[in-house]
Amino acid sequence: QDKRESLYVLSAWASKFFKDEMWTTEMGQVIGLHYFKERGYREDIIKKFELGYSPDNWTALVDAATKAGFHPDYLKEIGLAIERDDKSLYDRFRGRVMFPIHNLTGRVIGFGGRTLKTDKKVPKYVNSPESDIYHKSDVLYGLNFAKKAIMEEDNCYLVEGYADVISTHQAGVENVVSSSGTSLTTAQIRLIARFTKNVTILYDGDEAGIKASLRGTDMLLEEGLNVKILLFPDGNDPDSYVKTYGSSVFKSYIKENQQDFIFYKTRILLRDTNNDPIKRAEVIRDVVESIALIPDEIKVSVFIRECSNLLDIEERILLSELNKIRISKS
Ligand code: UTP
Ligand code: MN
Ligand code: MN
Ligand code: MN
Ligand code: MN
Repeated sequence: QDKRESLYVLSAWASKFFKDEMWTTEMGQVIGLHYFKERGYREDIIKKFELGYSPDNWTALVDAATKAGFHPDYLKEIGLAIERDDKSLYDRFRGRVMFPIHNLTGRVIGFGGRTLKTDKKVPKYVNSPESDIYHKSDVLYGLNFAKKAIMEEDNCYLVEGYADVISTHQAGVENVVSSSGTSLTTAQIRLIARFTKNVTILYDGDEAGIKASLRGTDMLLEEGLNVKILLFPDGNDPDSYVKTYGSSVFKSYIKENQQDFIFYKTRILLRDTNNDPIKRAEVIRDVVESIALIPDEIKVSVFIRECSNLLDIEERILLSELNKIRISKS
């Protein structure tokens, strides 16, 4: 317990270090702050999300933390420093813009650092490793900022990235969290379910985003959540869409283009069958499998009826398929 408290204190200190580097040093302003401003982020948003900059130097943070009295073991433990073979330490985050990750109570528990290079060989984001205070699978980025709006709106938007959360906030849509590019876990879903039963997926409008939406959603249905989905055109993600079209177009776009996930899945899968009967049969089974996960029987019957129309197949055939799936799973 003492140790975890020390890790929280160190994380908060590091977050302040990255902020000070960005706001008060020449390099931080010219490189880090300039980067965020180029992306269109306002100063109040940059401050709210406590964005920062890690200097392009092997030991800037290690040196400052050591001078401030932090034990090297803690720096290693929380992944801010990495140990070389000769036991010397160097900074994990170097020359990156920094996104602190907060827990539900707003304490900093980790970081994502974005490269400023366009070189594809450099990883775009480097993230803090797992530690005693940061368990990736239990955290949703932005939830501390979003929880109030999620309750007020009785809906949670789910996006892929850090930048998507920040841009949608700036656009005035604050009920947004990110799974940080990884597939959703049951723990993350239950976290959302504490605040609302309604989720809308706003993943990137690229092939990866479509795949992720089909992959990650069965778990949401299983937990009894109502799932809607919306994809952005031309490979946009929420952040790039806001930047291209502006806040008010973004807001009406997400209002008008949400569709129910089950119907979306049916349409997407049908699109690729070219009326091949065997492929159609697979689609029918796949869709019914998703419907079978929904715990609420009334919703199940509504979906069966609607999908019978979409798939142009009799309701009783879907129902018998549903029963087969349920029996094989019980
Ligand atoms: P994306 O590749 O969609 O990046 O990954 P992005 O969020 O749109 O980033 P920008 O707009 O170019 O800055 C979505 C999320 O996946 C995680 C990050 O959390 C990212 O926000 N990710 C991505 C990583 O952890 N590492 C990577 O190398 C790439
Ligand atoms: Mn992450
Ligand atoms: Mn992407
Ligand atoms: Mn993206
Ligand atoms: Mn993006």
